[in-house]
Amino acid sequence: MMKIGIIGSGSMGAGIAQVAATAGHEVLVFDSNPAALERAQANLLATLNKLAEKGKIDDRTAKAIFGRTYFVGDLSAFGECGLVIEAIVEDLAVKKSVFAQLETIVGADCLLATNTSSLSVAAIAAACRKPERVLGIHFFNPAPLMQLVEVVPAVQTNPAVIAQAKLLIKSWGKLVVLAKDTPGFIVNRVARPYYGEALRIFEEGIADIATIDWAMTMLGGFRMGPFTLMDFIGNDVNYTVTEMVFQSFFFDPRYKPSFTQKRLTEAGWLGKKSGRGYYDYSQNAANPQPVMDEILGKKILQRILVMLINEAADACYLRIASRDDIDLAMTKGVNYPKGLLRWADEIGIENCVKMMDDLYREYLEDRYRCSPLLRRMAEAGKTFYDGK
Ligand SMILES: NC(=O)c1ccc[n+]([C@@H]2O[C@H](COP(=O)([O-])OP(=O)(O)OC[C@H]3O[C@@H](n4cnc5c(N)ncnc54)[C@H](O)[C@@H]3O)[C@@H](O)[C@H]2O)c1
Repeated sequence: MMKIGIIGSGSMGAGIAQVAATAGHEVLVFDSNPAALERAQANLLATLNKLAEKGKIDDRTAKAIFGRTYFVGDLSAFGECGLVIEAIVEDLAVKKSVFAQLETIVGADCLLATNTSSLSVAAIAAACRKPERVLGIHFFNPAPLMQLVEVVPAVQTNPAVIAQAKLLIKSWGKLVVLAKDTPGFIVNRVARPYYGEALRIFEEGIADIATIDWAMTMLGGFRMGPFTLMDFIGNDVNYTVTEMVFQSFFFDPRYKPSFTQKRLTEAGWLGKKSGRGYYDYSQNAANPQPVMDEILGKKILQRILVMLINEAADACYLRIASRDDIDLAMTKGVNYPKGLLRWADEIGIENCVKMMDDLYREYLEDRYRCSPLLRRMAEAGKTFYDGK
């Protein structure tokens, strides 16, 4: 079994190392911060012990996984790795210099992957002498629990490298989807309206946060309402992703960030982790209660849902990923109750087009433009799944 190298032992690097070691690989983990490396080692031991206590793995397996994970103080040990996954700070210049250095250490056949969420894989690959061996392998947090992995080839990536990476990550028990090297890949792109449209509805005074959350969970079946979810993710993190996607799409109004969220971030109201976000997490806090008005609730759900469907359809139209991979990514990466394209079929493509056109007519904003794919499908009487 090939040796796996992980650079960066923060939340993602440590999680990916656990996944690879659990799958039976010897794993080398390097971090430029010795304290982070020590912390990751102690955390892995604690996590494995907890899994053993709960009976999810036996003691021997826990010891074996820990025993084949090596926390190393320099990169020179990475010479024998068959795959190295980088999960360091999200900074293009730093990632490029690490990749350039890495290439002087690893063998000619070693695959080099980045776990970047927002940077261009092509730009990172361009730092290498052999860019054809570089690709994105994007795990979700926490990596041991989240089933989805987005594999993101750069324009330079050799097709054989893509096939090899897909096979390997599948053998780790993950569900692999293939995404084009574009901002947000699949999940972080298609999910934007879940936050953005909810914020817009709130800013327009159509409903308060508790009512919007209620509509999406109780009527829509989503696991968490958008405001609860933003508080959970952290408003700082969620705002940064939105801003990054907006800038990377050359300021397409569809991805425009919201002042409400920007101000909350500036105020330090980051959500659960800071004790206050859209909601107050202190003891005995009086949080708003939803107005359980079904007609209003349905209006909210329909508006956010059709914006999500439109985004998913456009991702399909622009060949960001296949129909199946888009639906799989949203159900497994962010636990949506249904694939958005399957949901579009259920609602009716023609109805989706009408809802988008109604929004566009009302606001005359490019944000509400209907995807050409939905329009063409409606005209041709087609559905995404054609009964399949
Ligand atoms: N946190 C998430 O939810 C998430 C999800 C998917 C992808 N990502 C991506 O994964 C990467 C890591 O994210 P994270 O949340 O684990 O970050 P983190 O801050 O928890 O960890 C980053 C680690 O990298 C180390 N590091 C920084 N520069 C280094 C260098 N030059 N060489 C070696 N180590 C270095 C730091 O000491 C730190 O321990 C980023 O690219 C991020 O965009 C994050």
